[in-house]
Amino acid sequence: MKITKICCIGAGYVGGPTMAVIAQKCPDIKVTVVDLNEKRIAAWNDANVENIPVYEPGLADVVASARGRNLFFSTEVDKAIDEAQLIFISVNTPTKTYGSGKGMAADLKYIELCARQIARVSKDDKIVVEKSTLPVRTAEAVKSILDNTGNGVQFQILSNPEFLAEGTAVQDLLAPDRVLIGGDNTPEGQKAIQALADVYGQWVPKERILTTNVWSSELSKLTANAFLAQRVSSINALSELCEKTGADVNEVAKAIGMDSRIGPKFLKASVGFGGSCFQKDILNMVYIAKSFGLNEVADYWEQVIIMNDHQKRRFARNIVQTLYNTVADKKIAFLGWAFKKDTNDTRESAAIYVADDLINEQANIAIYDPKVSSQQVLSDLDYLDSRTHEANEKRAVSYDDPYKACHNAHAVAILTEWDEFTQLDWQRIYDNMQKPAFVFDGRNLLDGKRMAEIGFKYQSIGSGPRC
Ligand code: NAD
Ligand code: UDX
Repeated sequence: MKITKICCIGAGYVGGPTMAVIAQKCPDIKVTVVDLNEKRIAAWNDANVENIPVYEPGLADVVASARGRNLFFSTEVDKAIDEAQLIFISVNTPTKTYGSGKGMAADLKYIELCARQIARVSKDDKIVVEKSTLPVRTAEAVKSILDNTGNGVQFQILSNPEFLAEGTAVQDLLAPDRVLIGGDNTPEGQKAIQALADVYGQWVPKERILTTNVWSSELSKLTANAFLAQRVSSINALSELCEKTGADVNEVAKAIGMDSRIGPKFLKASVGFGGSCFQKDILNMVYIAKSFGLNEVADYWEQVIIMNDHQKRRFARNIVQTLYNTVADKKIAFLGWAFKKDTNDTRESAAIYVADDLINEQANIAIYDPKVSSQQVLSDLDYLDSRTHEANEKRAVSYDDPYKACHNAHAVAILTEWDEFTQLDWQRIYDNMQKPAFVFDGRNLLDGKRMAEIGFKYQSIGSGPRC
């Protein structure tokens, strides 16, 4: 079966970039990305392509190359489903905030709504692809909904999890380490797998397209994120030991990373990992393990989250302790709010939790992030529900100039590793700060020796005993 029409439900950080790359690479396929969120769709259609709602290096160019040709963004969900032979479900699957599994299980209500909508609208056979990250065996539920519509349409369900990382999404999509497709071992299942593999095959080498059964595919996605997050928590756990012993975590990471069995990637100590995926997916795995009575398995993985929460909290606590045990009414400048560089995404960013802890101590936070708006910062803080919106507004103020954010500050904290922070005129920042001028580098971004020469009291993560 040759695919000529694709629909993707969900125009977010995954649906948008993924479909833009498919459309660019497959000019013969009409790709329609639909979403209920009218504002988001309007932004994807903005005449100025720089205003698309997801910031990713290179994405605007990819969108510009295909939009209006074979890439369309629309709120007409029914129409796009009806037309398509292959439908990606790429909606959000957040952690449940209510009922059983609250705070752990994945909330599948948006997935179920999509399945019901596809079932209702479809008049001919379709391939339905789970692009969202889902608990293992979700495809069973999706299939059960689709197979009980009574209108005789045949559905094949595939799992095709996405491994892109934000900030490098375009690069990751253009040259993926692998594309994973899980499907049924029946002739129809294999035909559906082949149809999707042929889409990717237009730019991904064959040997990088891996096919498995549906359950292996679903579980591989959770496992990949759990392993990656575990590496960050492992190096962060060591960073605290380094601070007590005089070892330097950067040196330790380099030394162990040169062992080809360990490898050098994902060993950067930090203020803690953020992003919409790691915590959510591990909690989801913990929940699944618990539901099978596998308590040791659940505890093992939960420790990755416990360590990460500790890392964020101890970063904030160290700021308070170093500033003579009080930050009340002191100005603390935050450089960065996004959960990593090169994205405007702030979901689960460590910055939110560090700010919340410091505001509890009555600090005034002055934020500069090149891609995050003041509304987003306030909405992130409001979401925690620690205090009123007005109180957050008073304590967390955003600036569009890093020098203004740092002016008169008692301390600067680096929360995101944006490249531009290395290029700042740090002498100028120092001259305009309160003295002693502290820098807490939560990303080990700056040259500590140079910072000390300027006169800063500089602390990074995992190097040298704390003063
Ligand atoms: P997102 O919140 O940015 O986007 C999801 C979109 O789906 C939203 O715009 C929402 O309005 C829309 N939506 C929800 N229900 C809908 C419905 N019934 N009909 C139409 N639109 C609907 O989420 P995201 O970051 O793109 O993540 C999507 C999925 O991909 C999640 O399961 C996530 O775990 C997974 N994932 C995310 C990343 C990442 O880096 N963000 C990477 C890999 C996998
Ligand atoms: C992650 C996975 O990498 C990706 O494959 C999956 O599809 C979605 O989840 P993402 O969350 O976008 O991607 O970014 P990632 O680069 O994994 O970083 C996650 C967090 O870990 C960030 O806050 C980052 O700053 C932090 N991190 C990463 C570290 O603190 N140290 C590291 O060495 C690596």
